Amino acid sequence: MSFRDIQTQDDVEVYQKRLTDNYPDRPEIMSHICHQIEQLQIEDPTVVELCIGPGQLAETLCNIIPRINYIGLDFIQPFLDFTAAKLLIDGKFVCANLTGAEWPNLLKNASQTGRIDAIVSMQSLHDVGDADQIASIYAQCQKLLGKEGLFINADLITQEGDEANARPGRLTVPHHLELLQAAGYASTGCSLRTAQFGVCFGRNR
Ligand SMILES: C[S@@+](CC[C@H](N)C(=O)[O-])C[C@H]1O[C@@H](n2cnc3c(N)ncnc32)[C@H](O)[C@@H]1O
Repeated sequence: MSFRDIQTQDDVEVYQKRLTDNYPDRPEIMSHICHQIEQLQIEDPTVVELCIGPGQLAETLCNIIPRINYIGLDFIQPFLDFTAAKLLIDGKFVCANLTGAEWPNLLKNASQTGRIDAIVSMQSLHDVGDADQIASIYAQCQKLLGKEGLFINADLITQEGDEANARPGRLTVPHHLELLQAAGYASTGCSLRTAQFGVCFGRNR
């Protein structure tokens, strides 16, 4: 089942199980993302998640960071409803397409604190589009984040040398880092790499 076929809450449960069963690295990736945000040492960070799907990262973030202001974005409403129902806190949810022009303003308006301290995404941007699309999202996020802001993209990667055979959004880690640097982040890096995932970050300081 593709996320495009999701219509009901039962569909979301089936989709969630498929992610859990097929991608054993996910728990490690989620803990790592939470740890990176904890290291910002902001008591009540405003954290945006792009492409939340069934909300497993949302749940982990909200359990580990009790005073988080969580804002989740996806373009499939049943994912947003499923996640909102299971979170122990009142998150904000934005239904928007990352290939459109409205999402940066919708996220800005959703921030109760007026700041966005971190923007994270897991296993998703390769589904949104090709390298140009990912570059555009990196640049928009750089502008949305504050002076200390942190952007993290934990995505499925292509091994170096295999890029010619890969699907358009499946980039190598060096390619992600090149796009993050071009987007204007002050520092960039890859903080974790597993067999399936690369976790790349850009920071505004
Ligand atoms: C493979 S799922 C991953 C979901 C979640 N991040 C996780 O790891 O459990 C990809 C997600 O990206 C979302 N998505 C794909 N293209 C999108 C777009 N253009 N705009 C917003 N969301 C999108 C899908 O709806 C889906 O929730």
